[in-house]
Amino acid sequence: MQRSRIIGTGAYAPSKVLTNFDLEKMVSTSDEWIIERTGIKERRIASEDEATSDLSIKAAKNAIEMAGIKPEAIDIIIVGTVTPDMLFPSTASIIQNKIGAKNAVAFDISAACSGFIYALSIADQFIKSGTYKTALVIGAEVLSRMIDWTDRNTCILFGDGAGAVILQAENGERGILSTHLHTDGSMWDFLYTPGGGSRHPVSHQVIDDKLIYMRMKGNETFKVAVKSLESVIIEALEYNNLKPSDISWVIPHQANLRIIQSIVKRLELPMDKVVLNIERYGNTSAASVPMALDEAVRDGRVKKNDIIIFEAFGAGLTWASALVRW
Ligand code: UT7
Repeated sequence: MQRSRIIGTGAYAPSKVLTNFDLEKMVSTSDEWIIERTGIKERRIASEDEATSDLSIKAAKNAIEMAGIKPEAIDIIIVGTVTPDMLFPSTASIIQNKIGAKNAVAFDISAACSGFIYALSIADQFIKSGTYKTALVIGAEVLSRMIDWTDRNTCILFGDGAGAVILQAENGERGILSTHLHTDGSMWDFLYTPGGGSRHPVSHQVIDDKLIYMRMKGNETFKVAVKSLESVIIEALEYNNLKPSDISWVIPHQANLRIIQSIVKRLELPMDKVVLNIERYGNTSAASVPMALDEAVRDGRVKKNDIIIFEAFGAGLTWASALVRW
């Protein structure tokens, strides 16, 4: 059977570190509160001249190098992001040009924190159908530009980063076994940025009213996240006739350590099967799953034939999983 196998991974995080102690000087919060409620100690912030494509290109080059392919071999580039360089063209087009992937079709998709798994699923469909052989899938965000740095409900959570994978068509049992995507638009206002689009185009008033910044109903979002993520993992396992104990690694979206702990507990899995980097990067939205994957691949935790579940949840609301045999 033709499957998409991940043959290369890459990640990039900007060098500037913003710690909880730095945030203590900006809003009424504490290192203790942030660690206890989220598991985050620090996050990375892009420099003024770094946009989402710049982070993505570094991650993509790492993935291309690991895969041992030439950029010209890439047939399709899909970028999951809600912080594109510009409203248009797509960030994927900018990346395509700068990495020299001149034969690739390139576009972005918007599914917030689920963006990487959505993009992975789309690329997988093209590969399974035989349309394309090689895909570059990226999850990348510079969310720091969309944060109200006076709002302690959101500014403590998010960070910037990028992760990338190269998928290649291969016959056999290894690769993406299935992907599962969900959306419930009735909860769109749990997490959103009202301004800057066609509803509230940028104006002095829109800026004064702070509509260009992210808004979140944190507590409500938390509850839906736990339920949806448990069900989308079970859905992936049942689809493949597997049990939670068959999972070698959980690579979760790193939104909140307590969300991850609740899900793992509900599935009766030990925490040492979870790849975590939330402590160092916070919530990097679409970048979090491929950044964690890259870390676990490069340090040798992930081994051939391991069963790995990716899961993510975000604005939309959207949630998704992907089951992979490494
Ligand atoms: O990735 C996309 C999806 N996003 C998520 O999954 C985020 C999900 N939500 C969360 O992670 C959590 O809801 C938060 C971390 C955002 C908040 O944690 P919480 O345990 O849900 O806290 P809460 O909003 O219920 O607030 C509890 C208290 C409140 O004070 P009172 O009303 O009890 O006096 C808040 O005002 O904590 C206060 N609070 C803070 N205190 C110190 C809220 N933010 C902070 C803060 N520092 N940064």
